Amino acid sequence: MNEKMMKIKNIIVVFCIIAIAALFYSCKDTGVNTDNNTIPSSNVSYSKHIRPVLEAHCVGCHSSSNPQGGFDASTYSSLTADPGIVFKGKPENSRIIWRVDPKYGMSVMPPLGSNYKALNSNQVTGLYTWIKEGANNN
Ligand code: HEC
Repeated sequence: MNEKMMKIKNIIVVFCIIAIAALFYSCKDTGVNTDNNTIPSSNVSYSKHIRPVLEAHCVGCHSSSNPQGGFDASTYSSLTADPGIVFKGKPENSRIIWRVDPKYGMSVMPPLGSNYKALNSNQVTGLYTWIKEGANNN
């Protein structure tokens, strides 16, 4: 093999390595992982903290087109439409809390055995705080 051929071969090898690396990089999961988005202990925001959690864990079954149990969690207004579900200022009176905190002894949401992951304790506490702070559309 002459020197020119060697050079071309090297260029092809380098090109292939870059192409494979680019392929791997493009396959990386870029979905927002709300479970790593820690909710603060005060000034909880609906759009920044609550909505992404509900979208990932609840809206699959509580959408406007098919609201299981008659509950649509997809928008701020539908989420807060029933004061029995979100009682502004009083998380302990809110059925949404009864269904995510096992201490109320009700069947927890998302239902066990479904494809949806349970909320972690930071997310449950975040929901408490958001409702306690007035369940604002912030
Ligand atoms: C796999 C489907 C599924 C997912 C995911 C799910 N739910 Fe439910 N949910 C249901 C079904 C079915 C019912 C009605 C039966 C019942 O009350 O257990 C229900 C009922 C409810 C109710 C009762 C409504 C009322 O009027 O009292 C609340 C509140 C609720 N879900 C909240 C949530 C929250 C919050 C999440 C996310 C953390 C969630 N659900 C995720 C299926 C789901």
